[in-house]
Amino acid sequence: MKKGKFYVTTPIYYVNDVPHIGHAYTTIAADTIARYKAAAGYEVYFLTGTDEHGRKIEQAAQAGGEAPIELADRVVVKFQDLWKILGIQNTDFIRTTESRHHGAVSEIWRLVEKNGDIYLDEYEGWYDVRNEAFITETQVEEIMKLPEKTRPHLEKIKEQSYFFRLSKYQEPLLLHYSEHPEFIKPDYRRNEVVSFVEGGLRDLSVSRTNFSWGIPVPDSQGHVVYVWFDALTNYLTSLGFPGKTQDFENFWPADIHLVGKDILRFHAVYWPAFLMSAGLELPKTVFAHGWWTVEGEKMSKSLGNVVDPCKVVEEFGSEIFRYFLLREIPFGQDGDYSRKSLVNRVNGELVNGLGNLVSRSLSMTERYADGVVPNPVELSESDKAIANSYKETKQQVRSDFEELAFNKALSHIWEFIALVNKYVDKTAPWKLAKQEEQRNRLETVLWTLAESIRVISLLIYPFLPETACEIRKKIGLSTGIGKENTDWGYTKPGTIVKKGENLFTKITDEKK
Ligand code: MSP
Repeated sequence: MKKGKFYVTTPIYYVNDVPHIGHAYTTIAADTIARYKAAAGYEVYFLTGTDEHGRKIEQAAQAGGEAPIELADRVVVKFQDLWKILGIQNTDFIRTTESRHHGAVSEIWRLVEKNGDIYLDEYEGWYDVRNEAFITETQVEEIMKLPEKTRPHLEKIKEQSYFFRLSKYQEPLLLHYSEHPEFIKPDYRRNEVVSFVEGGLRDLSVSRTNFSWGIPVPDSQGHVVYVWFDALTNYLTSLGFPGKTQDFENFWPADIHLVGKDILRFHAVYWPAFLMSAGLELPKTVFAHGWWTVEGEKMSKSLGNVVDPCKVVEEFGSEIFRYFLLREIPFGQDGDYSRKSLVNRVNGELVNGLGNLVSRSLSMTERYADGVVPNPVELSESDKAIANSYKETKQQVRSDFEELAFNKALSHIWEFIALVNKYVDKTAPWKLAKQEEQRNRLETVLWTLAESIRVISLLIYPFLPETACEIRKKIGLSTGIGKENTDWGYTKPGTIVKKGENLFTKITDEKK
């Protein structure tokens, strides 16, 4: 029996550029949550995709001398390939140029219009093409202070436009934030959004006429739906909206939209207002994560320091990349990506911590027990301490996941790994093996190690799915996770283990 349904989304990524570490970060985080929930017995729907309309894509295509759809068709493959190599198990991949999406956007537009929230007027002001956002004079002044190279391209616009009555939703939104504090996370981000909304909301221009790469506004001439109105709707499209589908019934409202801090406003202000207007339920949580700098610097094309996830994976493998991103910084805060910290984590935590524990434990089982997990005979205090520590770790990891504190969860798991490594040092099976009268003790220790490795594979699975499966193969278990008992004590004596190859190799970095 399934425990419940769970719907997690990533932003849909613009196809004007190839994927970078920021895209990989959110998608890996979403995959980790999806795997955790699925293993815990939930029926999970995990959506990612690409945002293919708008002025920005149109301009990028023009610059490259191709049609926007050609650009999208070319770049979308890079995202899809990257998700494959990162072991991402999304349920669906949506492209906003698909016809199913066209239908969904037209329908939500009609619903909002029917509710009296769309009117025609004239927009006069500025448009920030990089962020696909209408901006105020004050924002323009701020942008003009930036060095020319890093400034987003601004366009002065004077055109007829459809407006959405965002101002009408100021009070309903504030009420929603106060009644549902879990709607925006982390808390400090919620405070930012609340003050923004308290500052007053102006109606939002939701159509453009000076370009055509988008979804036409229903029953209008020459208007294209504003790209954020179009893009946000993807979360409904995938579930079959406006059809009354089983997926929609099961999974809407979404449990969590993961977004970067820069696009929180679109998700926590515009999106709920559109949904309220359309008479649809609001997502339960929008979680905004922080931004990565690279070797202490802002990542940018002009600095040439954009981290290409494919290259990182080529060099270190996807597991190391996943581990580093989720371990290095608290989810929500900004952090720095540096080769040195990555290498330190790999050598210290993956090679010496996890890798070492698995290899020494299994090699001793091969050497002293012919590769067969023995029977635990009599438990001593130190064996019981391991069992108890696992129970605590499991609880901790569960509550860490509740707050999406991936780094804390990993640090709790690694404390457990360190404890088991210490247990090996203290019990010293190589000494026990030399004394016949210690045979029972040796067997208990080897069983405790096999069981520790089993539960570690369960704990690390959402973060390091391939490593978890590799470990499980070594201890004679099926790679599938989800049906197995996660309590302590379920390793069967008699199980055949195989040390095999090391899980990780030490990085000796000449570049250091
Ligand atoms: N298309 C919109 C999202 C529409 S969702 C309905 C978009 N796309 S994007 O490709 O520009 O950005 C996608 C995500 O990448 C955002 O969540 C953004 O925060 C994230 N990142 C971009 N650079 C980043 C870092 N340097 N670090 C972490 N995440 C970053 O916005």
